[in-house]
Amino acid sequence: MTEENFIPKPYTNSIDSGSFTWASPSNIALVKYWGKKEHQIPENPSISFTLNNCKTTTTVSFSKKEINTGFSFEVFLDGEQKEDFKPKIETFFKRVEVYLPFLNAYHFKIETSNTFPHSSGIASSASGMSALALCLMSIEKELSTDVSEQDFIKKASFLARLGSGSACRSLEGDLVVWGTHDEIKGSSDLFGVKYPYDVHQNFKNYQDTILLVDKGEKQVSSTVGHNLMHGHPFAQERFKQANSNLSQMVSILKNGDLDQFIALVESEALTLHAMMMTSMPYFILMKPNTLEIINKIWNYRKQKGSNVCFTLDAGANVHVLYPQNETASVLEFIKNELVAYCQNGQYICDVIGLGANKL
Ligand code: DP6
Repeated sequence: MTEENFIPKPYTNSIDSGSFTWASPSNIALVKYWGKKEHQIPENPSISFTLNNCKTTTTVSFSKKEINTGFSFEVFLDGEQKEDFKPKIETFFKRVEVYLPFLNAYHFKIETSNTFPHSSGIASSASGMSALALCLMSIEKELSTDVSEQDFIKKASFLARLGSGSACRSLEGDLVVWGTHDEIKGSSDLFGVKYPYDVHQNFKNYQDTILLVDKGEKQVSSTVGHNLMHGHPFAQERFKQANSNLSQMVSILKNGDLDQFIALVESEALTLHAMMMTSMPYFILMKPNTLEIINKIWNYRKQKGSNVCFTLDAGANVHVLYPQNETASVLEFIKNELVAYCQNGQYICDVIGLGANKL
């Protein structure tokens, strides 16, 4: 499949106005996407768990314009107009215009809200771009007569990717792969796909408690971060490693080996941060409390024979991952020993979920 396949045939229907609402989840990568080529093509394949509770709900209302004079839209977060969201959406519209030729013909009102606290350090770009892409696809579906369910999700993921890479993993399925990988059937650099193989019972309803260590603005935007992989001395080795880690992950997901799962997931998280520490310019995105938490997790795991582990995104917050059967004991551990390291004692309990919903 190529990009051209996503350019629609001339629309057959006409519609003056309407409105669609979608709720899309956030996701947490197990094998990380870090480094991209032009047009949001990833340097390596990645795989993520879809989260169930951290969601963005977006309503797009649209009405036909009298004249076609560039894009026309307004954006609201929790009912408040957000001028500072507009440049990112303008860039997104420019990137996807060729695939959604109706964008110029309407005025759009985009109303969005997150289930997780704003400026919690939890990126809303994945869930936000996914929800927006789905709303736009719902409009396209009204304008065309031949959009199948499968094509709908695939194109929504393709569009979401052009908004934010990891957003293409926030559409459908509890485990999602993005990026071409020889051993994963149907995988593509252009969109995310539901993980197509057997997953061991150990990973069903896997838990993710997000410890909010630092709720400040990101020190490095993800686009700047990805760009630091260009000319990075370890980049090529890292991309190879991600490929082989994903191969390993396929067998881990099948055989349910939690020791191997833990080793792979934690190594991926630390490698992501190592890439940032060894880029030029260099960054340390972990905070002292991030390290305190990691050490506490390691001690707890050793002492209790637990299967708890951590992963990180491009920030200081810690995602604590554990199997469903350890929920009570790990939550107790979190409350007793880890909450003290969270900003204002805040954390969010989540569990692996199935994807986006039309509301
Ligand atoms: C560290 O998807 O936010 O979370 O494509 O520039 O929008 P852009 O980047 P983004 O990068 C996410 C990187 C990560 C790892 C991951 O989710 O795989």
